[in-house]
Amino acid sequence: MDPSDDLAWYWESRYAWGETPWDTGITPPELHELVDSGQLQPPGVTLDLGCGTGLNANFLARLGFTAIGVDLAPTAIAQAQRDAQQAGLPALFFVGDVAHLPLEGVQACFALDMGCLHSLSDENRDRYARSLAGLMAPGGLYMLYGFDYVPDHERGLFGFRPDEIAHRFAPHFDLVWLRPSLQKTFPVAWYLLQRR
Ligand SMILES: C[S@@+](CC[C@H](N)C(=O)[O-])C[C@H]1O[C@@H](n2cnc3c(N)ncnc32)[C@H](O)[C@@H]1O
Repeated sequence: MDPSDDLAWYWESRYAWGETPWDTGITPPELHELVDSGQLQPPGVTLDLGCGTGLNANFLARLGFTAIGVDLAPTAIAQAQRDAQQAGLPALFFVGDVAHLPLEGVQACFALDMGCLHSLSDENRDRYARSLAGLMAPGGLYMLYGFDYVPDHERGLFGFRPDEIAHRFAPHFDLVWLRPSLQKTFPVAWYLLQRR
């Protein structure tokens, strides 16, 4: 298991100090495209794993989904809850670890992970993949964004190795597409998977 307290402290500090360059206030075009394509339609339950301040979960709730967001950082979750309450959205947020999700009986039609899984240890990536498979309805879509593998990263394993995502999720998901791109000088990719 990861040293969760240290990790929780790390992520909470990033929010507390305002060091959150990922928190752009913009729902990514890739998610808009998926919605516009008609492949993802309300009603249904959606998950946002490592949801941060809840922008994308609240975007989905606005469309009519019942959105669930989880994140290690209490400051981020508090903002997500505030925004949802103020807008009267059907969204539920809680502080938790995506590798140890306390959700049962959820059959989500969609799950999003924008920048969370790629920072987990190998062991916790396995836990996460097993747990997510149990929380998705057959045919459900899973959209993932993460950095490519960074050797010798200061925080240990970071990023996805070549073919890692297709292999790690292979027992329960098919890889629908993979879109590599460059963010500044870092190679990143978007992935779309589908629960069998
Ligand atoms: C790069 S940020 C992205 C946040 C959000 N998805 C966004 O796009 O704005 C990564 C997020 O994952 C959360 N996180 C990292 N490890 C986590 C874990 N084990 N369980 C839950 N959340 C985690 C962090 O607190 C942080 O909010």
